[in-house]
Amino acid sequence: MDKPMFAHRNRYYLTSKLIFWFTIFIFLILLYCLRSCFYYYSSSNRPRHILQSGWDSLVAQSATPADPDCNLSILVTGAAGFVGFHVSLALKKRGDGVVGVDNFNRYYDPSLKRDRAKILERNGVFVVEADINDSELLEKLLSIGKFTHVVHLAAQAGVRYAMKNPDSYIHSNIAGLISVLESIKSANPQPALIWASSSSVYGLNSKVPFSEKDRTDQPASLYAATKKAGEEIAHAYNHIYGISITGLRFFTVYGPWGRPDMAYFSFTKDILKRKRIMIYEGPNQRSVARDFTYVDDIVKGCLAALDTAEKSTGSGGKKTGPAQLRVYNLGNTSPVMVKKLVSILEKLLKVEARKQVLPMPRNGDVMFTHANLSLAETELGYKPTTDLQTGLKNFVKWYLYYYYFQSEKSVM
Ligand SMILES: *[C@@H]1O[C@H](CO)[C@@H](O)[C@H](O)[C@H]1NC(C)=O
Ligand SMILES: *[C@@H]1O[C@H](CO)[C@@H](O)[C@H](O)[C@H]1NC(C)=O
Ligand SMILES: *[C@@H]1O[C@H](CO)[C@@H](O)[C@H](O)[C@H]1NC(C)=O
Repeated sequence: MDKPMFAHRNRYYLTSKLIFWFTIFIFLILLYCLRSCFYYYSSSNRPRHILQSGWDSLVAQSATPADPDCNLSILVTGAAGFVGFHVSLALKKRGDGVVGVDNFNRYYDPSLKRDRAKILERNGVFVVEADINDSELLEKLLSIGKFTHVVHLAAQAGVRYAMKNPDSYIHSNIAGLISVLESIKSANPQPALIWASSSSVYGLNSKVPFSEKDRTDQPASLYAATKKAGEEIAHAYNHIYGISITGLRFFTVYGPWGRPDMAYFSFTKDILKRKRIMIYEGPNQRSVARDFTYVDDIVKGCLAALDTAEKSTGSGGKKTGPAQLRVYNLGNTSPVMVKKLVSILEKLLKVEARKQVLPMPRNGDVMFTHANLSLAETELGYKPTTDLQTGLKNFVKWYLYYYYFQSEKSVM
C-alpha cells in the first residue's frame, strides 16, 4: 500500500518539478528576447535612420540620378565631413544620385557636421547615420542603391590626436577601410572605389616636390602609417578581387566648412578672440610650410578621378581580369610658410595676431609638403586655380557668417 502511494507522490513531484523548470526556461527566453530587443533600440551604434520606416526607399530615391544621361550613382562615406560634404554637393549638382554615410563622431564639434548634413538633405542627398565599420549595413546600402562608385572619405584625421587616441585611427582608417572594401567585393556589380589617402604618406621623405613614385615607407605619424597601410590594403583588394581603386593623396585641404582642428581654422578663431597663437618652427629657425589646397580644387580632382575610373572587373567576390589601380597627388604645388598664412589671416580679419614662436615638438608633423602634380595633370586634367589669398578670403567670409552673423540671428 505504501509503495504505490509513494510512486504516485513521486510522479506528482516530478511533474511539478518539470513544470517549474519549464516555467523558468520560458521566463529566461522571454528575458533574453526583451533584453536583446531593448539593446537593439537603445544601442547608440545602431544608426537612427535604419529604424525609420521607408528607409530603403529613401536610400533608393537618393541614389537615383536626376538625368538618365548622367548615369552615375555614388555612395559617399564621411559625407558630413569637410571634403565629403563638398564632393557630395558637387556630384548632386551635376545630376548624379548621391547617398551619404557618416557616423557624426565627436572628434570635432558634431554640430558643424549636422549643419553640413542639413544642407545636403535640403539638396536631396540622404545621409545615413552609421559607422563604416558596420559592413552589414554597407552591404545593405550597396544592394539597395546599385552604386557605380563609392567615394570613401570617412577617416580619422589629424596627426597629433593619434597620441591621445590611437585606437580611433585603427577603427576608421584600417578596420573601416576593410569593411568598405569587403562590402564592395561582395556587391554585384562591384562599384569602383575612389578614396582619400594623404600627403602625409611621404613622411620624412626630403626629396621635393613629392612624386607618386617617391618612397613612402617612412611615416612620421600613426595617421600617416594608417594611410600608407590603406594604400597597401587597396593594392591587395585590387589584386585579389578586381576592384577598380583610385587613391588620392590630399595636401592640406582648406576652405569654407573646414575642419576646426586645422591650423588655419584655429588661428582664425584665436586671432578673433585675441588669444595667443603658437607658430612652430624647425631647427635653425626653419619655417614650417604647407602646400595648402583649396577645397574646390580638391573637389574637381575627386570628380575627375571618378569620371576616369574604369569599372571593377570582379563580380560576386570573383575577379574576372586585372582592374585599374591608381594613386594621385592632389595639391596646389605652391607651398606657403605658416608665418605667411598668419599674415594673410591678420589682413583679412583686420586684427593683429599675438604670436608665440616655439620649436616644433616631435608629434608627427612634418616640416614641408609640396606636391608634384604632373601625373594628376596628365591623367586627370587636374589644375588647381585658387591661391591661398583667395581661398582664405572665402574661408574668412564663411567663418564670420557661420559663427557670428548667423548665430546672432538665431539668438534674436
Ligand atoms: C552610362 O551610360 C552609358 C551609355 O548607356 C554607358 O556606356 C556607361 O557605361 C554608363 N556609365 C556608368 C558609370 O554606368
Ligand atoms: C568593427 O565591428 C565589428 C563588428 O561588426 C567588431 O567586432 C569590431 O570590434 C569593430 N572594430 C573596431 C575597430 O571597432
Ligand atoms: C614630377 O613627376 C614626374 C613624374 O610623374 C617626373 O617626370 C618629374 O620629373 C617630376 N618633377 C619634378 C620637378 O620632380
